[in-house]
Amino acid sequence: MRSQSFVVAFVGVVLLIGIVACVSLGVAIAGDEEMCVPLGTITLEPPDTVEDKRAAVDFQHGRHLILACNNCHHTWKGTEPIVGCMTAGCHDLDTLPRLEGSKSIDKDQAFRYYKNAYHNQCIGCHKTMQKEIEQMARSMAPIDGKLPVTGPVGCVGCHPKE
Ligand code: HEC
Ligand code: HEC
Ligand code: HEC
Repeated sequence: MRSQSFVVAFVGVVLLIGIVACVSLGVAIAGDEEMCVPLGTITLEPPDTVEDKRAAVDFQHGRHLILACNNCHHTWKGTEPIVGCMTAGCHDLDTLPRLEGSKSIDKDQAFRYYKNAYHNQCIGCHKTMQKEIEQMARSMAPIDGKLPVTGPVGCVGCHPKE
């Protein structure tokens, strides 16, 4: 768990959400190409090899753009196109990896299991923020008299009941 405060990871960018499907932030990547940043909802689904137990997640990318991009796009250096989470070599495994010839989990490679990667990052941030918000509420020192909000930690908050 990162010790850095997510609250201070906020950037001051306010983007118009929902008017256009995506916006170019004018980030110059590879030559003249400009990166198109999705402003709406991205449906996050398991890879085809997984028989899903839960409903797909409607992830509101736009609402998360108040946060610094590298909270999530953690390998992005700002100069190349952003790639998907399940890109080969990243979170590209559909089950927990096991050590060869054993039932034990290969802990060094476990980050590649896509489900763990999503749960750690999505739920991890919401949980950490929730704690910080509770602390702020107790210290009676909310920013501008208003407490920040965060996302769900319970299953149906992300996977709606089917
Ligand atoms: C809270 C997490 C989070 C934050 C913050 C975030 N993103 Fe994303 N972004 C995602 C997820 C999850 C996806 C979907 C990735 C996938 O499909 O594998 C995505 C997708 C994208 C894509 C499309 C990538 C593709 O596969 O074509 C772009 C471009 C992008 N984000 C840019 C940005 C930029 C620029 C910022 C900062 C202004 C940002 N994102 C902030 C989580 C985030
Ligand atoms: C770095 C912190 C961070 C990460 C990582 C993060 N979130 Fe959030 N999430 C937030 C914050 C902050 C909000 C509140 C945004 C708002 O409503 O202003 C939020 C709100 C939400 C909401 C509620 C939106 C609504 O309709 O009210 C959902 C659902 C959600 N997040 C899902 C996800 C998923 C899925 C991921 C992983 C792909 C994710 N979040 C990753 C910080 C984070
Ligand atoms: C903050 C959002 C969030 C919360 C809360 C959350 N998940 Fe997920 N979960 C995801 C994302 C994103 C994925 C990856 C996309 C997918 O597979 O649907 C995922 C994937 C899964 C998968 C693998 C795919 C499937 O449907 O079989 C299971 C199982 C799952 N979650 C169960 C749970 C359970 C059980 C809980 C509550 C203990 C939970 N999740 C809470 C975001 C969340």
